[in-house]
Amino acid sequence: MAKKYIESGLTNLVRARPIIIIVTLHPDGTINAGTFGAYTNVSGSEIGIAIGKPSHTYRNIKRTGEFTINVVNKAIAKAAEICGRDIPENQSELEIANLHCENSRKISVPIIKECIANIECRYKKEVEINYHSFIIAKCVAGHIEEKFIASDGGLDVVKSQVIFNIGYPEPLYATLENPFLVR
Ligand SMILES: Cc1cc2nc3c(=O)[nH]c(=O)nc-3n(C[C@H](O)[C@H](O)[C@H](O)COP(=O)(O)O)c2cc1C
Repeated sequence: MAKKYIESGLTNLVRARPIIIIVTLHPDGTINAGTFGAYTNVSGSEIGIAIGKPSHTYRNIKRTGEFTINVVNKAIAKAAEICGRDIPENQSELEIANLHCENSRKISVPIIKECIANIECRYKKEVEINYHSFIIAKCVAGHIEEKFIASDGGLDVVKSQVIFNIGYPEPLYATLENPFLVR
């Protein structure tokens, strides 16, 4: 190996994050959808995710305390790119991206029908870090497409063709194709 020493772009040395769309509700009833890199598990039922404070997503979460996480696969990659654009807050990204809503079971914010898995979340606390805030939330309910349930009950990310961003902010994605066991 011949390693180059670097002092910038350090967080890009561990990459490939599955993409999610976070749905929130604006006070005027507009359903907001923003694209984000996947969350971090912080306990068996809680997640943490860094969200830019100027985003509509952040502001709506702080106002309502609720949001849904919607998992993106290859079939709706373009829709996720659209939800990543800066669209005025009185317009729903879902309509522009041709995505549709379904009611959640435990919270008032809807889930996205076309997404292969969805999690209903309630805000718990945050840690403000410069431009972003690290939001910690409790996962209270979930939905998963039956044909993509793995043997452990979770999402089969290979079969469902979940997309991983591998060059953000470039719109460069990959799917997983070669799972292997290490014994
Ligand atoms: C693939 C992808 C990943 C993104 N990941 C993040 C992220 O992790 N955190 C963040 O604050 N913004 C992220 N963004 C940018 C937001 O999607 C963008 O700021 C968007 O306008 C937010 O929408 P909103 O204002 O409706 O909440 C990402 C965008 C894309 C396309």
